[in-house]
Amino acid sequence: MNDPYTPSGPEAFDRLWAELEPLGRDPGSGGYHRHAWNGSDAEVRAWFTEAARSRGLDVRADRNGNLWAWWGDPGPGAVATGSHLDSVPDGGAFDGPLGVVSALAAVDELRRRGVRPGRPLAVTVFTEEEGGRFGVPCLGSRLTAGEISPERARGLTDAGGTTWARAMEAAGHDPDALGADPGALADLDVFVELHVEQGRALEETPHPVGVASAIWPHGRWRMDFTGRADHAGTTRLADRADPVLPFAHAVLAARVLAEQHDARATVARARVVPNGTNAIPSLVSAWLDARAADEDALEAVVSGVREAAGLAAREHGVGLEVAAESRSPLVSFAHGLRDRLAAVVASRAPGPGVPVLPTGAGHDAGVLAAHVPTAMLYVRNPTGVSHSPREWARPGDCHAGVLALADVLQDLLARPAREERG
Ligand code: GLV
Ligand code: MN
Ligand code: MN
Repeated sequence: MNDPYTPSGPEAFDRLWAELEPLGRDPGSGGYHRHAWNGSDAEVRAWFTEAARSRGLDVRADRNGNLWAWWGDPGPGAVATGSHLDSVPDGGAFDGPLGVVSALAAVDELRRRGVRPGRPLAVTVFTEEEGGRFGVPCLGSRLTAGEISPERARGLTDAGGTTWARAMEAAGHDPDALGADPGALADLDVFVELHVEQGRALEETPHPVGVASAIWPHGRWRMDFTGRADHAGTTRLADRADPVLPFAHAVLAARVLAEQHDARATVARARVVPNGTNAIPSLVSAWLDARAADEDALEAVVSGVREAAGLAAREHGVGLEVAAESRSPLVSFAHGLRDRLAAVVASRAPGPGVPVLPTGAGHDAGVLAAHVPTAMLYVRNPTGVSHSPREWARPGDCHAGVLALADVLQDLLARPAREERG
C-alpha cells in the first residue's frame, strides 16, 4: 500500500541534502570542519535529531555520544544503517553524510512502500569517525566496540589542548559514561553503511552502486623529532640539531616504501615548534598515515619509515619517538551477507556483475565488523576525489543509492531475526 503523503526516497534525499549541505560549510573553500563537539558538529547533530524525530523515530545518544534513531523499540534482532556526519579538516560534503541522509531517505522509501518492520530499525550517526579533532579515527564506534579504553579516549587532546572529556562535557554529554556497549552490539543483527566511493572503480562501469569486499589494514603513527632551537642565520650547519631534516627523510621514505609495496603512505599533518622562519625548530611532530592490501606489506612500509627516520635522526643529532595512535586490521566483510547485498542491488542494476570492491579507506563498518555482521554499499564518485571540498556524487547516483539501501533494508527486515548471526 503506497502512502501518498510520504515522499519517495529520492525526493526525501533531495530535501534532506538541501537542509544539511549548508551547515558548517566554509564560504571560502566550500569545505567543512565538522569535528566532534565543535559548533558545526552541534548543528549537524541537531539537524539529524530533528530530521529523525520528524519521521517519528526515537532519537537517543548512547554513552559514547553516537546517535541512534529507532523505528520500533530498540532490542534484539535490530537492523542498523548509518554513517557519520563529521569531516576531515576542510572535508567534502559526501563522506559520511551521504550514508546518513540516504538512511533517512530509505526510511521514507520503506514507509512509502508500506513496509512495517517486524524488527527494530536504527539509523546511526557515529562520532568522530575521521579523527579530525582528536586524532583517533572511528572513535565513537571504537569506544562502543570496546576497542579503545575510556581512559585513553577521555585524555585525547585536540590541537588547542582541550581533552575529549572536556569537549564532550561542554557539549552536554557525560564523559564518565564512556565505554564499551556489548549489549547494544549484541542486539544488532546486521549493520549496513552506505558510503560515497573514494576511488573511480565504479566510474569505469555502468553501475551507480557497488558492494564492499574488504578494508585494507591501516593506521596512524606519530613521529616526534626532537632537536635544538637556535638561530637560523648564525648557527653553523655542523652545530645544528635540526629536526626538519630527518622529518624530510621520513616523508620521502614513506613515498618510496609505498611505491615498493603497492601501498599508501602519507605524511599530511605536521607541527613545527616554534614555527618561526628564522629559528631552527626544537620539535617536529608528524603523523604517518599508512595502508596496504595486507598486514605484511603494511608492516614493511611502517618499519621501513621508522628505520629511515631513525637513521636520519641519528645522523643529525635529533631524538625520535614513534607511537602508533591507531591501528585497524584487515576487514573482510562476511561473504554471505556481501553476496546477498550484491544480489539485491543487482535487481535494479543497469547490467550484470554488481562490482564488489576493496577500499583503503577506514569506516565505522570496519570497526563493527568484528562484532556484528556488517556490509557496505558504495555510491559512484565520478572523479574519485574524497577528503576534499571537490568530493562529489551525481544526484542520480545518490538516488540509486537510496533505492538500493531501501531494497537491502527491506530484504533484511523481512528475514527472520538472528539469521545474519547464523
Ligand atoms: C577515513 O575516512 C579514513 O580512511 O581515513
Ligand atoms: Mn573519510
Ligand atoms: Mn566516511
